Amino acid sequence: MDKSTAKERILKLREELHEHNHRYYVMADPVISDKEYDRMMQELIRIESEYPEFYDPSSPSQRVGSDISREFSQSSHKYPMLSLENTYSREEVAAFDKRIRKTVSSGFEYVCELKFDGVAVSLIYEGGMLHRAVTRGDGERGDDVTANVKTIRSVPLKLRGGDYPQEFEIRGEVLLPREGFEKLNRERKERSESLFANPRNAAAGTLKIQNSSTVAGRPLECIVYRVLGEVLPYDSHYENLMKAGEWGFRISEQTRKCSTLQEVFDFIDHWDLYRAELPYETDGVVIKLNDFSLHRQLGYTAKTPRWAIAYKYSAERAATRINSVGFQVGRTGAITPVANLEPVLLAGTTVRRASLHNEDQMKILDIHAGDTVFVEKGGDIIPKIVGVDGDRRDPRSTPLEYIDKCPACATPLEKIEGEAKHYCPAIDTCEPQILGRIEHFVSRRAMNINMAGATVRRLFYRQLVRDAGDLYYLNADDIAGLEGFAKKSSEKLIRSIEDSKNLPWHRLLYALGIRFVGETVARKLAAAFPSADKLINAEWEELVAVNEVGGKIASGIKNHFSRQPNLAIIEKLKNAGVSLQARESEETDADNILEGRKFVISGTFERFSRDQLKTLIGQHGGVNVSAISSNVDFLVAGDGAGPSKLKKARELNIPVISENDFSEMINH
Ligand code: IVH
Repeated sequence: MDKSTAKERILKLREELHEHNHRYYVMADPVISDKEYDRMMQELIRIESEYPEFYDPSSPSQRVGSDISREFSQSSHKYPMLSLENTYSREEVAAFDKRIRKTVSSGFEYVCELKFDGVAVSLIYEGGMLHRAVTRGDGERGDDVTANVKTIRSVPLKLRGGDYPQEFEIRGEVLLPREGFEKLNRERKERSESLFANPRNAAAGTLKIQNSSTVAGRPLECIVYRVLGEVLPYDSHYENLMKAGEWGFRISEQTRKCSTLQEVFDFIDHWDLYRAELPYETDGVVIKLNDFSLHRQLGYTAKTPRWAIAYKYSAERAATRINSVGFQVGRTGAITPVANLEPVLLAGTTVRRASLHNEDQMKILDIHAGDTVFVEKGGDIIPKIVGVDGDRRDPRSTPLEYIDKCPACATPLEKIEGEAKHYCPAIDTCEPQILGRIEHFVSRRAMNINMAGATVRRLFYRQLVRDAGDLYYLNADDIAGLEGFAKKSSEKLIRSIEDSKNLPWHRLLYALGIRFVGETVARKLAAAFPSADKLINAEWEELVAVNEVGGKIASGIKNHFSRQPNLAIIEKLKNAGVSLQARESEETDADNILEGRKFVISGTFERFSRDQLKTLIGQHGGVNVSAISSNVDFLVAGDGAGPSKLKKARELNIPVISENDFSEMINH
C-alpha cells in the first residue's frame, strides 16, 4: 500500500467507524455486526501504526486506550463547575417556582431533567474535535482525564454536521450502567479483587485509572446536560441540548420542557416510580429555566445558579455510625450479619439496625469498625447499608471480620455450594434454630397458634417444649406457671393449640419449616401428596414431577424426612391427633382470598409487572386503587416506591408490604 492509498483508507475507515460508533452508542441502532466493527478497527490500527504521520488524536482508534501510565495533569475550568441547590422537599421546589415567578414575567419554560448519579466531566471541543476532558475537581480546576474519556464510546471524538461552534464546552455525567457495574464486580470477585460499592464509585474509580486500556474495557457512558460557550446556536438550554444531540452527543431521552409547577411535579412523580427501570442510577430531578436571558437576569450565588434547583429522591437515606456487627442465626441455621447503628431518623422512623445480608455483601461494602455508613430505606422497608463515607474513615481502622463459628453454639460454620449465606450445621442442638423453628410453626400464616416468641422461649427453657410436636402435649397448668399467664390466658392458649389441629394439610406442611417449602410450594405438594405418609415416602422423581417443584426443593424434602428428629415430630403430631392429611373437601385454590381488600401499588417489582399485580389483585377479589387513604388496606411497595405514598401509609398505619409478601398472601 502506498502512502496516498494508506491515507485514503485511513480516512475512509475513520469516517465509517465514527458513523458506526454513533449508530451503536448514541442511537442504539447499529447497522453492522460487532465482528465487522472489530475487523475495521483492527485494520485502521494496523495502517495507522504503519503510517504514524497520519496520527490524529480524534481517530476512533484512540478509544482503545493506551498502556502508558501517567499522572493526571490539572486543568483550569474556563467556566467554573458549579453545583446545584439541592432539596428533598416539594415545598422548596414550589418556593423556587414562586421566586422565579416573582422575578420574571410569565411565559417562561422549565426544562426538567433526570439527575444522573455519576461523575461530572467537562468536555472541551475545538474545531469539532474533542480537545480535552476535565473532571470537576474543586470547581475551579480538575484532573485532565482526556485519555480515559476518549475510551467512552458515547463521547464523540469528532462532531457530526458542521454547525457547531468553533470552540465550546459541554458538560455531562459519566456513568456506569447497572448491568456493566454488576458484571465488573462479578469479574473482580472472580479475581479476588476488592468490589465497588455502587455504580457511581465504580465510574469515579474508573475515570481515575492511570491505564486507559483498562478504562476502555469498562462500559462507561456519558450523558451531556449543559452546553457552554461564547457563541452558541441558541439562547436557550433545551434547544442547544437538542442541537448537541445532532452533533453526536448522547442526550437524555427523558428531558422534558414544562411550563407549570404541576407539570414539574408530574415529571418528579413519574420518575420517582419509574427511575428504577432505567439502566443507570438517578438520584433526583434537575429543574432548569430554559431561557439564557433569564439565567443572566437571575445570576448565581457563590456556588450555585439561581435559575436551577435539584430535587433529590434520596430523602430516605441517612448517614450514621456503625457501632458493631452482630450475627443472627435463623431457623434454618442461616447466618445473617446485622449492623448495630448509632440510632438515626430515617423516613419517620428510628433505625438502629440494618441487615448486611452475608459475607459477600460485607466485602462489597468493605465496612471498617466505626465507619460512617449510608443507610437507605427501599420499597421493602427493611433498612439497608448502601455505602461507606470514605472521607470520614479513621485510617487506622480495620475491616469488620466475618465469623467462622456459630455465634450461638460455636459450631464451625459451613458454606453450601451456590448459596451466599453461611450455615450452622448443629440443627438439633443450636438454640436459635430450635426456637426459630417453633416460632415459625406457631406463626399466623402457619398454624396460627397465638403464642409469643417470649412464651416459646420460656417453654423451651423449662424443657416443656423442645420441638413443635411437644406443643400438643402441654396442659393449662404447664402454661399457667409461666410468667405473664393466669388461668384464663393459659386456657385460651391451649384452645388455640387445639384449634390448630384441624387446619388444612398444606398449612401444616408449611409449618414444618422444610427448606425451600414456602406457602405456595406447600399447597402444590399438599395437592399432589394428600398425606404426610405419602409425602414422606415420595421418590425424588415423583417430587420433581410436581409443578413448581425443582431439584432444590425435592432435595430439601428428602433431606428433611431423612432426619430422625423430624420423623419423631410427625409421630408426636399424629399421636396428638393433628390432621396430617387433606380432607375430601379441602380446596387448594382459595380464590377470593383478598375479598374487598384495597391495594395501592407503588414502585417497580422484580417478579411481577405492575399490570400483573393489578390483575392478580382483581383475580383474588381485591381492589386496586391509586391513592393512599384511610380506606386502603395495603401498600405494595417496590423499588423506588414513592416517598410520599410511603410516608402517608405510615401515618395512616397502613401496612407496607413487598411483592413477596403479596405473593405469599395469594399463595402465588
Ligand atoms: S446541571 C450549574 N444537570 O449534579 C448547573 N447537573 O449538583 C450544573 N448532575 O456536578 C449542573 N445530572 O454532576 C446538571 N441533568 C443534570 C445533572 C447534573 C447530574 C450532577 C452534576 C453536577 C451535580 C450538581
